[in-house]
Amino acid sequence: MQEPRGMDQNEIRDTGKDGLATVFSVCSGKGGVGKTSISVNLATEFSRRGYRTIVVDADLGLSNTHILAGLRPEKTLSDYLEKRASLAEIVIDGPADVKFISGGSGVREMADLDASGRQRILDAIQSLRPHCDVVIIDTAAGISRSVTDFVSISDHTIVVTTSNFAAIADAYGIIKVVVQDGYDKPLHLAINRVRSPEEGEQVYKKLKGCSERFLSFDLNWLGLLPEDNSVEGAVLKRQPFCEAFPTSVATRYLKKLATALERYLTSVPLTS
Ligand SMILES: Nc1ncnc2c1ncn2[C@@H]1O[C@H](COP(=O)(O)OP(=O)(O)O)[C@@H](O)[C@H]1O
Ligand SMILES: [Mg+2]
Repeated sequence: MQEPRGMDQNEIRDTGKDGLATVFSVCSGKGGVGKTSISVNLATEFSRRGYRTIVVDADLGLSNTHILAGLRPEKTLSDYLEKRASLAEIVIDGPADVKFISGGSGVREMADLDASGRQRILDAIQSLRPHCDVVIIDTAAGISRSVTDFVSISDHTIVVTTSNFAAIADAYGIIKVVVQDGYDKPLHLAINRVRSPEEGEQVYKKLKGCSERFLSFDLNWLGLLPEDNSVEGAVLKRQPFCEAFPTSVATRYLKKLATALERYLTSVPLTS
């Protein structure tokens, strides 16, 4: 495979035990709860900490990570699958040196992708792993195979919910499907748009209790992100909020999420 730009072998440092990036998928069940905001900003924070980071937008056909990063991808996973572009050609440079791969926007064929098409994307993600430290897969909402396939190849999965009742129910839905599919890696819960730490704690208790009782699965606490106008303000500026508003409350909490996840990374950051 031709290597993605900026990720050649010369840049590869001590990449831990197996020399492969740690893969995180970000999923939710319900849409609009903050998966993309968290994916893009976590990636930016990891990159700022010295980890070569790539975001794969797996909201196939309705990708929007690039919007939050102010990018206009000319080629996407759709071009890769149609053999109009190599993998290296669909990797684009974003803010803070984060790389992005778009899943195409307004492309119905991508939304309706069959198992072999999805497998080719999973293989492509695996082939990126020797060339970076962190891969963040921003998934679509829902519990379809086009979400759970991406979860199945991840080392860690972040389930995002708000304290909205439907969002909590759908978060439980995705946890249930993933666990019943045999996923045995860590699942971490991130609670977004909370107005108080207690609100987040209540949601975690509920989901942890149900996962234990009905699925015999131990759900990890990752952390919370408060309701903060700077998140939407940054979208308007087409920048990750942690870049546009580095001193915002959202950024402060985002950094805590990154620190909680950093312990799972197997590579050593460039700056250390
Ligand atoms: N913590 C937050 N505070 C305020 N607005 C938020 C927050 N998180 C997300 N949003 C807003 O909610 C909307 C949906 O977020 P997004 O990340 O696109 O969700 P998803 O990817 O799950 O569909 C966006 O308009 C975003 O700006
Ligand atoms: Mg999204």
